[in-house]
Formats: sequence, C-alpha cells, structure tokens
Amino acid sequence: MNTYRIAVIAGDGIGREVIPAGMEVLTMAASQGGFACEFAELPWGCDYYLAHGRMLDAGGIEQVFGYDAIYLGAIGDPRVPDHISARELILPLRQQLRQYVNLRPMRLLPGIVSPLAGRSAADIDMVCVRENSEGEYLGLGGRVHAGTPEETAVQTSVFTRRAIERIARYGFRLAQGRPRKLLASATKSNALPHTLVLWDEVVADVAREFPDVTFRKYHVDALAARMITHPQTLDVVLASNLFGDILTDIGSAISGSLGVAPGGNINPDRTTPSMFEPIHGSAPDIAGKGIANPIAAIWAGAMMLDHLGERAAHDRILRAIERVVGDERVRTPDLGGRATTREMTEAVTQALGA
Ligand code: IPM
Ligand code: MG
Repeated sequence: MNTYRIAVIAGDGIGREVIPAGMEVLTMAASQGGFACEFAELPWGCDYYLAHGRMLDAGGIEQVFGYDAIYLGAIGDPRVPDHISARELILPLRQQLRQYVNLRPMRLLPGIVSPLAGRSAADIDMVCVRENSEGEYLGLGGRVHAGTPEETAVQTSVFTRRAIERIARYGFRLAQGRPRKLLASATKSNALPHTLVLWDEVVADVAREFPDVTFRKYHVDALAARMITHPQTLDVVLASNLFGDILTDIGSAISGSLGVAPGGNINPDRTTPSMFEPIHGSAPDIAGKGIANPIAAIWAGAMMLDHLGERAAHDRILRAIERVVGDERVRTPDLGGRATTREMTEAVTQALGA
C-alpha cells in the first residue's frame, strides 16, 4: 500500500478549522482508494512567531524536504505584520522548495451563484498558471534615508529567460490537455519594456512549440476587465507572480466565493515537496466561529492527491464537492447559507461515501 507522508501547516485563523476538515476527507478518500496519508503537523505560523520570534523552526525548511507534500492552511494574524508572516514563511517555502508553478483553478461550480449577472458554470472555467519563483516577489531591494523626506525604497523585479520558459511550457502543456486549448498570457510590456518584453518574447517562442494551442497576449489591465466581461473566452491564464496574485483573486471572486478556491504550489521536477493550500487566507473576522467554508481546503487536498499520482481519488473528491454545492442544502455563510464547517464537511464525507 502506498503511504504518503504529508507535512501539515494549518497555520493561523480559519486555517486551523478547514485543514482538519480536509484531512478527514483525505483520510476517507485514501481508505477508499487503497492508499494512506500519514500527517505530521508542524506548529508554524503567527502564534509560533509570537512565542518564539520566528515563523518557523530554525532549519525548518530543511525539515520539510523529506515529505511527499505539504498541506498548508493559512498564514496571517492581525498581531503580526503581514510582510513578516508572508515573507518569512509562505514565500520562502515557495521559493526555496522550487515550487515554481502556482496553479489555481478559477471555476464556477454548478449551484454557486456568481456575482456576475447571468453567468453560469459553463461561462467560468479558467485556470491560472502563475509564476511562483521570481518576478515581482523575489524580495530584492532596500530602503535608505529612513524617516527623512528623502526616504527611498527600491524593489526590483527579476525576470529570467529560464523561469519564463519553464512556466510558459507548463501553461501550454496544460492548455493542450484542456478541451478549448486556449492560453492567455498576461503582460504589461507597453509600460514595462524590459521585464515584460522579455516575458512576451519568451512566451511567444514557447508558443511555437504548441501549434495546437490558441495563444493570445493581453495587457493585464485589459485581461482583468475581460475576466469580468467575457470570462467564457478565457481558459488557461499565464501570469507573472504579482499579476497572477491579483488575477486569481478576481477569478475566485467571480467564482462565487473565496471560500471555494484552491491552489497548488508545484515543483514539477519533483525534487522537493509541492504545497497545496486554500487561497482564502486566515480570515481573522470569522476565525474561531466554526463557520469557515472547508471546500477550498478540501479541493486543495484533492489537488495534492492528484499531484501524488492519485488521480481517481482527486476525481472522487471533486464529484463529492460538486454534489454538495450543487444541491444547495448545506452551505456556509460565504455561500449565503447557515451551515457550519462541521456540517459542510460531513456533507462532503457523506457524498464521498455514497
Ligand atoms: C496568495 C497570497 C500571497 C501572495 C501573500 C500572502 C504573500 O496573496 O497566495 O495569493 O501574494 O502570493
Ligand atoms: Mg493572493
């Protein structure tokens, strides 16, 4: 029997509520599928920071190298500045574990109402392939003349041919396997003639390797508008780190709720573990109330199983999620209902068992 060793970082806020829900569903899917998930919980996050002055153990990143995957809840707490919690935990994990693909489905599930009038599930079925290792997020820069009128900050974007090429190839390959075979590349080369012109050139080169994929580039502002006005014309969206961050929040908002959208931070070379997370964040306003929507975490867990080679288990969990949101009886408040995290989780395990 295959046993997958999974490092769990439930983290902060509702991460601690939705990750146990996800673990329950994964455990059930594993026993149905004849494999096992062995979870090792790591106490990292903002509470850990408040107690120890750092977000994770010294040498923490080396500790996770030995796992098959990482299941992450959410990181963030009003008592810790966001740039500390993100820059000292999420971003180092993504960058040092070479998870260079951030894969984010942006799909309106049947039964969920989009804030876009008149749109149904057939209109919103996109996936973002976000560059996850460099770009605007590399962290290169500094500040000088602190506290004076001359105070200056510099934050440098770094775009390399190698990283653009590999993310573009991943995006085109993904598009090739989807029914519509479309790829939209987000650029801003009209205003950023160094980094984004390189992006455009490399993406266009890679496009030539995939003649069966219909490729188009859009300036990111126009693409953001297009996601709202013509989502049905979009399929795979290829974007740099910052552009992808922004576009995927639009994507999850038009898909009805941030509480549904999952994401994978993937190292396609498989030399290090990949990391799967709901993209909603720690939601301090509802944390501790037991009403967070567990669907995004459960879906992220399903993506993790897919990555580990358990495609059938992924598909079964997805069908269960679709059945639960499709019949509209059990819904958490973000979807207009009154169900609790527990009730929604039970609905999913019931559908999975049916
Ligand atoms: C996300 C988040 C992160 C990002 C933050 C927490 C650094 O917004 O995963 O989308 O910008 O990547
Ligand atoms: Mg984001």
